Amino acid sequence: MLEKDISEILIDEQRLKERIKELGHAITRDYQGKEPVLVGVLKGAIMFISDLIRYIDLPVTLDFMAISSYGASTHSSGVVKIIKDLDSSIQDKDVIIVEDIIDSGLTLSYLRKYLMGRSPKSIRICTLLDKPERRKSDVEVEYVGFNIPDKFVVGYGLDYAEKYRNLPYIGVLKPEVYND
Ligand code: IMP
Ligand code: MG
Repeated sequence: MLEKDISEILIDEQRLKERIKELGHAITRDYQGKEPVLVGVLKGAIMFISDLIRYIDLPVTLDFMAISSYGASTHSSGVVKIIKDLDSSIQDKDVIIVEDIIDSGLTLSYLRKYLMGRSPKSIRICTLLDKPERRKSDVEVEYVGFNIPDKFVVGYGLDYAEKYRNLPYIGVLKPEVYND
């Protein structure tokens, strides 16, 4: 039913699982002796963060932020609005921001600066997908699942106009679905 709007499966369930396992193991290695706070960016990162934490063998805690940047368009406005802030203090904590995708980078560079203002011990970014061609803002990203081409993708948490998040894979949305 949703598949009819997808032109191509870019990353299937098996590849997602294997790569997320590697990311989880890398985080486990890099944060030995620490108790990082994983900050999931709602709503796109829901599936990614829930799978990722299964492969992190550390006493992690979870928190979430909701921000809006896109509305129902397929291009970032550069205007970031905080809809839901963190529940707990991150002062002196090792924070890992977990995001679905980096496109222009505007959202994450804003978020990183915003959270830096709360005096954490460290902040790193872990994104499932990266579209490096589209970068407008210089933002350091320490963990990247997959570099992908400049195509609008949905599924595995990522939406177009709030739909398609429930697809279990990353697929390319047919351009005729969105009228930009
Ligand atoms: P940025 O500020 O341009 O880096 O935009 C990042 C945000 O835009 C992500 O958190 C997504 O919510 C959204 N986004 C960017 N590219 C895509 C895409 O291909 N599919 C779905 N959402 C996207
Ligand atoms: Mg989105």
